[in-house]
Amino acid sequence: MFGAFFEEHYARRKLTRHLFHELLETISRAVNMIEYKDTNHSARVALNSLRLAREVGIDDQQVLAQVYFAGLLHDVGEVGVPDNLIYKKGKLSEEEFQLLTTHTAIGQQIVSQVPVLETAANLVLWHHERWDGTGYPEGLTMTEAPMLAQIVSLCDAFDNIRRGGLFSIPENWENELHRFASIQFNPLLVPPLIELTQAGRMDDIAPAPEDDAVILALESEESVMVRLREDYVGTIVNFLLTLLEAKHMDSAVHSKRVARLCEKVGERMNLSELELQTLVIAGNLHDIGKVGIPNSILDKPGLLDDWEYRVVQKHPEQAATILKPLRGFGDVAETVRYHHER
Ligand SMILES: [Fe+2]
Ligand SMILES: [Fe+2]
Ligand SMILES: [Fe+2]
Repeated sequence: MFGAFFEEHYARRKLTRHLFHELLETISRAVNMIEYKDTNHSARVALNSLRLAREVGIDDQQVLAQVYFAGLLHDVGEVGVPDNLIYKKGKLSEEEFQLLTTHTAIGQQIVSQVPVLETAANLVLWHHERWDGTGYPEGLTMTEAPMLAQIVSLCDAFDNIRRGGLFSIPENWENELHRFASIQFNPLLVPPLIELTQAGRMDDIAPAPEDDAVILALESEESVMVRLREDYVGTIVNFLLTLLEAKHMDSAVHSKRVARLCEKVGERMNLSELELQTLVIAGNLHDIGKVGIPNSILDKPGLLDDWEYRVVQKHPEQAATILKPLRGFGDVAETVRYHHER
């Protein structure tokens, strides 16, 4: 889709290796921006899932990579759920609960924008399924849900228990795990998780060299990279726009409209193919920094107060921050950074 852009900024500069590294960094930045609660939760779930998967004998690096990405992105669909539900302390009404459950399917939708992460996208869909079949969205029993989903689901709950969420007392984490084994969790996964934790091998969010290896494994697999390179720039644009759509549909619709206008104006100006593509990408992504702005501000009907206005003013800089890891996107990042200058 953006062939001239990819050719100029990646192929010609020989930057077609390590695409996963920069993509991962960009995804992490965007996700951290929307997750204004405990930003390390996703990182811990990702690395803990990876460690537990290895511990139970999964050694295929490609499979481990899917587990890692699923852990990192398991709650990305929360971007499409109102903040007051995610932070609500008391019991949710039936209607609120139904709304909350949609974060699994929204997450799957977002993650599946990246070709080669289809497995991770399915694990994201299933991370609230339970062993006894009372989970959501599909009510699969855990014998139906794949082992990989059971791992991510357990590590997610484990992290919440350890941080005192889910009405639990962190010191009792071991009892809690035993209590929910065979109800919520695969009972076979609980003992290895406890052993790893007691050995001090869980919860560290600094990736070890063997953790980094899962990304390298993706990058060294030629068939994976061929698929990623096919439409790498389009993948990034689609991923970020899908994220923005879930966060704030109006902003995403507006962005696509701006991209189309940019293209028309550019054509009138007889810009080159490369310049046109740069403009279209920048048009699509100029407001991506809004993923980090609360909906209460984005949707406020009247005038913004001073503080709210200052929050909104950060979105061009936030957009540039999200795009920074992408080595070929320097021009685009500069364009979005200055789109509100006068
Ligand atoms: Fe979740
Ligand atoms: Fe979570
Ligand atoms: Fe803007």
